[in-house]
Amino acid sequence: MENKNIVLSGIRATGNLHLGNYYGALNKFVKMQNDYDCRFFIADLHALTTHPDPKMLHENVKQILAEYLAAGLDPDKNIIYVQSDVPEISELYLLMNMHVGIGELMRTASFKDKARKALGIHSDGDEIEKEIIGNQTNQRVNAGLLTYPTLMAVDILIHNADLVPVGKDQEQHLELTRRFARRFNSFYKTEYFKEPTNFNFGGNAVKVPGLDGSGKMGKSEGNCIYLIDEEKVLRKKVMRAMTDEGPKEPNSPVSEPIANLFTLMELVSTPDTLQHFKDAYADCSIRYGDLKKQLAEDILKVTLPIRERILEIQGDDEYLGRVVRQGAERACETAAKTLREVREIMGIKKF
Ligand code: ADP
Ligand code: TRP
Repeated sequence: MENKNIVLSGIRATGNLHLGNYYGALNKFVKMQNDYDCRFFIADLHALTTHPDPKMLHENVKQILAEYLAAGLDPDKNIIYVQSDVPEISELYLLMNMHVGIGELMRTASFKDKARKALGIHSDGDEIEKEIIGNQTNQRVNAGLLTYPTLMAVDILIHNADLVPVGKDQEQHLELTRRFARRFNSFYKTEYFKEPTNFNFGGNAVKVPGLDGSGKMGKSEGNCIYLIDEEKVLRKKVMRAMTDEGPKEPNSPVSEPIANLFTLMELVSTPDTLQHFKDAYADCSIRYGDLKKQLAEDILKVTLPIRERILEIQGDDEYLGRVVRQGAERACETAAKTLREVREIMGIKKF
């Protein structure tokens, strides 16, 4: 393991994983596990920023863990752990916040998005700031939400990770991580932290579209295909996907809903299948019903075996517990070393 690049990534414990999570993150984790020194975790502290029901939080952690394992992550090849099982992360988060500006956090796209939703603001601009400062008791825009990028940076830096496989929507957070690392290094005149990068096997970051015609697939958009979806439910979702009236003349431009179906097909189908439907679109012989049927078929080939394994593992608390206890022990080792060294760099000493 000595000279391998260190890989670190995680997913928030906020519900079942969908195809966006799978192609943006989990599938990359699985493919990387043989070639890198990998650490994958379940971000339960990050989930707290949006106030989950306490009764559901642990269930959600278990669910993601079962889905990680069902998708093929091997606990003997990777360190798999739960974020809150590594208390060093919380302390480093406190220390790192001393070097993070409120202004840069307030300008982060994900924060603005969530704050806007919580406050019911529809426009952009400085309205958000005014509303947050004016509305002192609105704890839905909480400090944890604001400092979300600090916590994510710490997740990564505490392992001194080189590569962070995530979807396109997380790239701004990674950019901030690099900035915090650089700032820490220059403030303390050290080269302690490395600057991590996203990893996409040489291609661009993936953005999996939803089935509703526009935008990305996401839990809060209600347009997801879940890994755990039953066959019937999944087929129904795909057959209901938005389309258009069809091409009127050869080589017409492709509208967004159809481009999205092609994007999904590119992920799950063979190149020949995709080409077949693209050609049919170009010569106007395409039937969207056939396209969707094929798409559903090819998605099921990916998700059904995973679904079966999730159902097998899900209830096995003994096994799940064993995996994360072993993972936490190993993650804590690295985390404790980093924290010890950072405390020293910052001048924190024990009597
Ligand atoms: P959601 O947006 O559904 O709440 P998360 O924010 O928990 O999902 O994302 C977990 C991981 O999945 C991240 O690495 C994120 O980049 C990736 N991801 C989520 N949705 C998509 C998508 N539609 N396309 C590509 N990657 C995605
Ligand atoms: N912010 C990521 C998401 O919403 C989850 C996450 C938290 C993460 N900490 C991380 C991802 C560290 C990669 C590395 O999906």
